[in-house]
Amino acid sequence: MMNTSDDHNPIQHFQQWFYEVDKAHPEDEANAMLLSTIGVDGFPKSRIVLLKRFTWEGFIFFTNYTSEKGKAIAQNNKVSITFNWAAAKKKVLIEGEAEKVASNLSEGYFESRPEGSKLGAWASDQSKVVSSRKVLEDQLEHYETKFKNQIIPRPEYWGGYLIKPNRFEFVEHDRIEGYTRTIIYKLLPDYNWLKDTGYTHE
Ligand SMILES: Cc1cc2nc3c(=O)[nH]c(=O)nc-3n(C[C@H](O)[C@H](O)[C@H](O)COP(=O)(O)O)c2cc1C
Repeated sequence: MMNTSDDHNPIQHFQQWFYEVDKAHPEDEANAMLLSTIGVDGFPKSRIVLLKRFTWEGFIFFTNYTSEKGKAIAQNNKVSITFNWAAAKKKVLIEGEAEKVASNLSEGYFESRPEGSKLGAWASDQSKVVSSRKVLEDQLEHYETKFKNQIIPRPEYWGGYLIKPNRFEFVEHDRIEGYTRTIIYKLLPDYNWLKDTGYTHE
C-alpha cells in the first residue's frame, strides 16, 4: 500500500500520538527519547535525552555541546531517535540530521530552567567520569559561590540541537487483534512524504 501523501504530515501524526500517550500513559514519560549517534570511534551509541520542543521543522533537545554526543554529531550529524512508549504499546523511530539551534533559542530555554539545573550545566562535564561524588559537589559549590546573587549565564558550550527528520516509523501493537501496524514516511526530494503502511502478525 504505497501512496504519496500530502494530506498527512508525519509531524502531525507524531503530535497526535505524543499528546495521546502523555495524557493516557504518563508512566511512559512521553518526552524521553533514545538518541543514537555514530561515535567518533565509528561505533553507534545511544542515550536518553528529553524532547523539549517539536515544531514543523523537527525535534529539539538540549545538551552539553562538548559531551560525547556533541562530538559525535560534529563529525556525523546523522542521528536517530526512538520513543518507546511501552504502556501505550507504541513506538516511533525517527532518522534525521541534527544541527545546533540559534543561540537565542538556547538562551531562552536556559533562562527558563531552575537554578539547580543551570548550576548543573556549569558544574558537570557530562561525559567525563569523575572519581567521586565529592568532586562533583565541590564543582557545584564553586559555581554556587561564583554566581551568588547573580543571574546565572548560559555556558557557551550548552545549547540545543534540532533534529530535522527524513524518515519516520510509527509502530503500534494492537493487543486485541494481535497484530502490529507499521507506518513509514520517507521524505522525497520534492519535500513530500511517501507513506507506506504494513501489518505483521505476532
Ligand atoms: C530521564 C533522563 C533524561 C535525560 N535527559 C538529558 C537531556 O535532555 N540532555 C542531556 O544532555 N542529557 C540527558 N540525560 C543524560 C544522558 O542520558 C547522558 O547520560 C548524558 O547526556 C551524557 O551522554 P554522552 O556521554 O553520550 O554525551 C538524561 C538522562 C536520563 C536518565
